[in-house]
Amino acid sequence: MSYWTKGEIKTLNRLRDGFLAGNAGAADYWSGEEDLGLYEKTFAQRIGWKWDAVLSELSLRGWSPPSTKLVDWACGSGIAGLRTLEHWPEAFGAITVTDRSYRARNFAVSRLREKRGDLAVEGGNPEQVDCGGAVVLVSHLLTELSERELRGVLERFHGAAALIWVESATRENARRLMATVRDPLVATGDWKAVAPCTHSGSCPLLQGENERHWCHHFARVPSEVHQDEAWRDFSERVGVDLRVLPYTFVVLERGTKARAASDGENGFSRVIGTAREFKGFLKVLSCAKEGVNDWTLQKRDVPATFKALRKGGELPLFRFETQGDRVVKADRGGVQNEP
Ligand SMILES: C[S@@+](CC[C@H](N)C(=O)[O-])C[C@H]1O[C@@H](n2cnc3c(N)ncnc32)[C@H](O)[C@@H]1O
Repeated sequence: MSYWTKGEIKTLNRLRDGFLAGNAGAADYWSGEEDLGLYEKTFAQRIGWKWDAVLSELSLRGWSPPSTKLVDWACGSGIAGLRTLEHWPEAFGAITVTDRSYRARNFAVSRLREKRGDLAVEGGNPEQVDCGGAVVLVSHLLTELSERELRGVLERFHGAAALIWVESATRENARRLMATVRDPLVATGDWKAVAPCTHSGSCPLLQGENERHWCHHFARVPSEVHQDEAWRDFSERVGVDLRVLPYTFVVLERGTKARAASDGENGFSRVIGTAREFKGFLKVLSCAKEGVNDWTLQKRDVPATFKALRKGGELPLFRFETQGDRVVKADRGGVQNEP
């Protein structure tokens, strides 16, 4: 049985085709409130699960927003702002949403006012919104920006307090995010990397020998989704795989007092993607200031770490001690370590 009407599926497919073709930036594709409502129930929910993973990592790393002012840039239906306000319900006094589409701005403003009547919620066009001193959220915008537009957007963020930027984890997106957002901002000396990195040096994954890698992670899809008729119908008719949810992200904080996670994490590395399981051992791609390594872990050497990596879902920060390519000791970030 079909959950979505033919017209709804046609709209969802039109939106998806535009996102995949990488030409969605050419013109405003939100033809009305109905498009945004359908997007909100489907694509935006998946994006929300990625935001949940990012925000939860930030909390596990002991980071909290450095400002009470929030901006959701290129807000669409407003999912990034909504999830951030849900994650830190007391942290913000005001949120401004902006999007080149006035339909999207209006939609997001009314959603936010419904949910958070206690906050000052404003919409504004991107040329006028002031990001000074704000925590700026950006989500799933990169493929819609030319290089010139991206430079223009980054200029608007120069006075921001922090930037949380989440994207789909294609190789191209992930490498572009690090090469054109993360690295140039940290190179100014005004910004520090908070996550996923454990340092504010240039991104090791962009170095020539790491050409085949990209910075990506996997978010948890709520288990009830797999039993849900609306999601099953959406998955089949729009061609979206609901089993895996890869994302890429970067969080940066500005200012000399920026509480970048790297301050307290000397020697730690961040596991990229998931551990790959082989007969009797795991392989993990690990990224640290010193570079990228593909380590081998055996259960008998580091049983607790082996179990944690196999299961996933924990803060993926480790301080590995190695012999050759084998991990012989592992300290895990934020948890009790191997005895
Ligand atoms: C794929 S949607 C993502 C929406 C939302 N951030 C999310 O994660 O669900 C991209 C949004 O960026 C907006 N957009 C595209 N180019 C823009 C630009 N140059 N400035 C501001 N918004 C832009 C589009 O109108 C659209 O709402």
